[in-house]
Amino acid sequence: MHFHSDRFGRIAPTEITPQAVYESRRDWLRLMAGGAAGAALAGWAGREALAQSAAKLPGAKSALPGALTMEKPTSFKDASTYNNFYEFGTDKADPARAAGTLKTRPWTVAVEGEVGKPGLFDLDALLKLSPMEERIYRLRCVEGWSMVIPWVGYSLAELIKKVEPTSKAKYVEFVTLADKAQMPGLRSGVLDWPYTEGLRIDEAMQPLAMLAFGMYGEVLPNQNGAPVRLVVPWKYGFKSAKSIVKIRFVEKQPVSSWTRAAAQEYGFFSNVNPKVDHPRWSQATERRIGEDGLFAKKRPTLMFNGYEAQVGQLYAGMDLKKFY
Ligand code: MTE
Repeated sequence: MHFHSDRFGRIAPTEITPQAVYESRRDWLRLMAGGAAGAALAGWAGREALAQSAAKLPGAKSALPGALTMEKPTSFKDASTYNNFYEFGTDKADPARAAGTLKTRPWTVAVEGEVGKPGLFDLDALLKLSPMEERIYRLRCVEGWSMVIPWVGYSLAELIKKVEPTSKAKYVEFVTLADKAQMPGLRSGVLDWPYTEGLRIDEAMQPLAMLAFGMYGEVLPNQNGAPVRLVVPWKYGFKSAKSIVKIRFVEKQPVSSWTRAAAQEYGFFSNVNPKVDHPRWSQATERRIGEDGLFAKKRPTLMFNGYEAQVGQLYAGMDLKKFY
């Protein structure tokens, strides 16, 4: 993610209210599902992304404090065509173009390590494990851009409770799919595959940490991490591992792919923190994709991405310059 410059400067296609944008798109999809207008789908811009993700996945509005930001959601088109998913290439446009080859069914997630009930969870079992919720979270990338996305899923804690971690489970490691046959980006050595991430167990148990299966009321587009990904809204986007195949409970702090690639730049914690700069650029401000043009004033970045009230106490007493 530090290898390519970003293509900023997009302007939102409409200036109507966020709810209206979101709702009108839903109405439109309902219309499409009706059948007669189905042929029109083929001609719609961005149809690849849409076609993959047309299956509905509704979620009840979350009641968790902080889970429904009132900020204007990013357009589905921007959220599904401006992605980091290096298994499908390093350019922001690559995943939407190339992730059609990802086979998301059948899919299993193995739960291993320091748990009383290890096992293999089929995707259908995971989908039924807890009621689906919609949560509108900010997602901020370490590169300095951000989005607001209505995710669908449930708290990672729901799965963790089911598998009964032992007292030795101090960290959780997430391993994602690495299959050369489906993922052209694996031919490049830009990262050590498989892509892995990690959280401290108390971070993983924080209810805002989410296992997401959908966004905008539909199943996740492949390029956004189908069929199941992590969304950790108070951390830089790269902590939110996509297309997870294994969740491992461990005693020692795991080394994530980005830390292995550049430890000085991407630490284990990776909390959004405007006061701790990336070694090569400031983290004090950000550009909202689809809204803040290249020459517009950037907006200030909030401590813990605006989730300080919920997660601040997890880091009480820690030197966040050291544990960046
Ligand atoms: N997960 C996998 N498996 N591979 C990746 O390259 N990129 C990360 C994260 N999860 C990545 C990943 C980075 S750098 C970011 S910013 C977010 O996914 C981007 O998520 P989005 O494309 O859905 O916005």
